[in-house]
Amino acid sequence: MSLLIIGGTGTLGRQVVLQALTKGYQVRCLVRNFRKANFLKEWGAELIYGDLSRPETIPPCLQGITAVIDTSTSRPSDLDTLKQVDWDGKCALIEAAQAANVKHFVFCSSQNVEQFLNIPLMEMKFGIETKLQQSNIPYTVFRLAGFYQGLIEQYAIPVLENLPILVTNENTCVSYMDTQDIAKFCLRSLQLPEAKNRTFVLGGQKGWVSSEIINLCEQLAGQSAKVNKIPLFLLKLVSQIFGFFEWGQNISDRLAFAEILNVENDFSKSTFDLYKTFKVDDSEITQLDDYFLEYFIRLLKRLRDINFEDIQKQKNLII
Ligand SMILES: NC(=O)c1ccc[n+]([C@@H]2O[C@H](COP(=O)([O-])OP(=O)(O)OC[C@H]3O[C@@H](n4cnc5c(N)ncnc54)[C@H](OP(=O)(O)O)[C@@H]3O)[C@@H](O)[C@H]2O)c1
Repeated sequence: MSLLIIGGTGTLGRQVVLQALTKGYQVRCLVRNFRKANFLKEWGAELIYGDLSRPETIPPCLQGITAVIDTSTSRPSDLDTLKQVDWDGKCALIEAAQAANVKHFVFCSSQNVEQFLNIPLMEMKFGIETKLQQSNIPYTVFRLAGFYQGLIEQYAIPVLENLPILVTNENTCVSYMDTQDIAKFCLRSLQLPEAKNRTFVLGGQKGWVSSEIINLCEQLAGQSAKVNKIPLFLLKLVSQIFGFFEWGQNISDRLAFAEILNVENDFSKSTFDLYKTFKVDDSEITQLDDYFLEYFIRLLKRLRDINFEDIQKQKNLII
């Protein structure tokens, strides 16, 4: 089976590429910068130039492709491209996939998307879900929660560097997940007939409130966090002010993500059913404690190596 992966250089996309290659799929990545994507080529993927904001570049990428996995989204740094990438580009991608007779299309959406249609990115994601459902391409949609990888920047690094951490609603659980595990579900969906033409809410087994994550980082780092609480209404206000200006639309969308994740959900039953459908055992899923522990161990080892190198350099200077 030949796969076209969009967003292969991204946090989730690179895990999908790596696992697809390991499983023996023929992997082609649509990328807009060959130099940046070189690591994917080194892993064994074929690179093809494509840019969702230039729809004419998409159809050639789909020649000979059996399935598409789309993990792309506009970069927060690319102001102005939100609609071009997450709406126009993805509509063009679905049309091109249909014309190329693609047999399966996997799309990454967001949890609680239908409750936040006032937020442009959410409206576009929901619109793309609908377009896929209306196309005649067999599809699987994953509505995702936050990624563990994002928590490093949000919590672990500020604790380590003694920087303030902004938190909103203390009591809301988010069932974050490791992107390696999400990638596992994306790939498994290609093999499971019961995953076709379905939308799944995919999250981890445990919901985490921000205070628990901060505690965990404090324990592992051996130092206290500086926590600044910002009420959710203030976050909404900031998001609305930014959204008022066209240039601020992207910033406002990103701020709004915190609000989206702050909606209470009952995951336990649906998560259990989902894992069963995908034949994924609980023990296969990385827990946040283990993920953070591994991160801190790696970091400490790196710091020790740097210290050792510095000492060696100083010794050499003295000699
Ligand atoms: N991160 C989260 O916590 C979270 C939560 C819920 C849902 N999601 C969804 O999960 C998916 C993966 O998220 P992520 O955090 O892994 O994304 P990410 O790291 O921001 O990566 C985005 C990817 O999209 C590509 N891209 C951007 N503009 C493009 C364009 N014009 N043409 C082609 N490719 C383009 C980027 O390529 P370049 O490297 O060239 O920029 C990159 O590979 C997204 O659909 C996101 O909305 C994420």
